[in-house]
Amino acid sequence: MADLSAFSLEGRVALVTGGGRGIGLSFAKALAKAGAALVINDFRADTADEACHAVEAMGGKARPAVFDVTDFDRLEAHVDGIARDLGRLDILVNNAGILIRAPIEDHGMPDFTRVIDTNLNAVYAVSRACARPMKAQGGGRIINVGSVMSISSRPGIISYVAAKHGVLGLTRGLAAELGPYNITVNAIGPGYILTEMNRHVLGTPFEQAVIDRTPMARWASPEELTGTAVFLASDAAGFVTGQLLMVDGGMTSNSILVESENLGASS
Ligand SMILES: NC(=O)c1ccc[n+]([C@@H]2O[C@H](COP(=O)([O-])OP(=O)(O)OC[C@H]3O[C@@H](n4cnc5c(N)ncnc54)[C@H](O)[C@@H]3O)[C@@H](O)[C@H]2O)c1
Repeated sequence: MADLSAFSLEGRVALVTGGGRGIGLSFAKALAKAGAALVINDFRADTADEACHAVEAMGGKARPAVFDVTDFDRLEAHVDGIARDLGRLDILVNNAGILIRAPIEDHGMPDFTRVIDTNLNAVYAVSRACARPMKAQGGGRIINVGSVMSISSRPGIISYVAAKHGVLGLTRGLAAELGPYNITVNAIGPGYILTEMNRHVLGTPFEQAVIDRTPMARWASPEELTGTAVFLASDAAGFVTGQLLMVDGGMTSNSILVESENLGASS
């Protein structure tokens, strides 16, 4: 029988950014179930508090860390405080993200910059702040949240596509630099997941378009991403780094041309 202890996160401390709701909250719950003590960041204090109560209600350990991940000048102080208070910092999940939908003529620099700051620059800044305590303690795990938009595109979300492609570049760059310090850096690439970020598309043609382009023929729940996060955070993934693991129901391995092919015709 396989030794599953390599998947345990017992004794580890994990920080999840934007962990107050949605995908981040699911990551926090799963890491706690696997044994980690959670620090749940969000810039909404009530959301972070509620998330901690939810983790504690299932028997996990969690404390809130209320700050904005784009408050770049104060990130090191926040992260150092967490590492000092909890004695260590083993796992960082860079999950906080926003999406602004607008055609190019309505998407000016303030909005473009806000998306790049939150979804890309903060991934670098929080990783940089966490790398110091991780190096000092002899290792760590950084897990970035990418997207199908890390390797593909669609109209109306230019800044999001640019940021998520950047997350893939950051993942590879950080992995190259931090590998010698026993810090792995990987990204998860979710497909379409029903959260507050996209609940408004329910009942629109877009909801069905996602289903049509996904081999698994459905949207996913946030919980379906969590096994991958626990794996990447664990000793079981000790030699996995610089990777983007797609959890997208096959969407990015699928060609949209397949639908129109005559599968019965011989070539
Ligand atoms: N929902 C999807 O279909 C989907 C698909 C692919 C990738 N993702 C990515 O997953 C991550 C989570 O998305 P979600 O759908 O759960 O979104 P969500 O909007 O439900 O949750 C995002 C959380 O991040 C917090 N947050 C936002 N900006 C912050 C900041 N500057 N500082 C601190 N906290 C901040 C919010 O308060 C919120 O709690 C994002 O990176 C997103 O791009 C989502």
